[in-house]
Amino acid sequence: MESVIVAIDGPSGTGKSSTSKAVAAKLGLSYLDTGAQYRAITWWMINNGIDTDDPAAIATASAKPVIVSGTDPAGPTITVDGVDVAGPIRTQEVTSKVSAVSAVAEVRAVITELQRSIALTARQGIVVEGRDIGTTVLPDADLKIFLTASPEARAARRSGELKGKESADLASTKAALIKRDEADSSRRTSPLAKADDAVEVDTTDLTLDQVVECVVTLVEEKR
Ligand code: C5P
Repeated sequence: MESVIVAIDGPSGTGKSSTSKAVAAKLGLSYLDTGAQYRAITWWMINNGIDTDDPAAIATASAKPVIVSGTDPAGPTITVDGVDVAGPIRTQEVTSKVSAVSAVAEVRAVITELQRSIALTARQGIVVEGRDIGTTVLPDADLKIFLTASPEARAARRSGELKGKESADLASTKAALIKRDEADSSRRTSPLAKADDAVEVDTTDLTLDQVVECVVTLVEEKR
């Protein structure tokens, strides 16, 4: 089995994480959730009293936290300075601040370097999911996928994930999601964008199994 690098990008709620994990598990590849890394550095900034509205303060602190990502698709892990932050990085506080933190160029430089080193040392190959993987982090990826879905479908999926964790109705989930996508798409440094050579898959009317099947077929064609 040849090593293969798969980049899966797209806005929130398109099924990136579920798809990426399932594809990696099926094909025996590693899996990297780059959104979790941006969430982890955001969590660290909040916990260390850094003003997340102050890009200069964020830039100065950006190299301090030590982020470690476990890449097993059956149980990906994330720690910051040795602390397991898998739960805390999913709170609404982190979600509402992550776009501002991840827009800072110094943060992106640190996290991008980390992502490249993880991807390039994954022996069997890896599925890397994010916003700028095909365009910036791994422009030479063997396969680039860009997932899309209607705002309604994305909000419905996201509020399904939040159910029971935090109270969030559909309308406010949709508004927050659109706001975050706008911020991610309009930032100066490596915005959310489809790479020219990415395959676009609209997941609005597809089940998770159908999306996984589609991506697995595309990976197999590349091998
Ligand atoms: O994928 P997830 O929703 O967890 O990503 C959280 C945030 O991390 C995004 O809204 C975006 O601001 C940032 N992000 C990024 N580049 C990536 C992955 C995530 O800027 N490659």
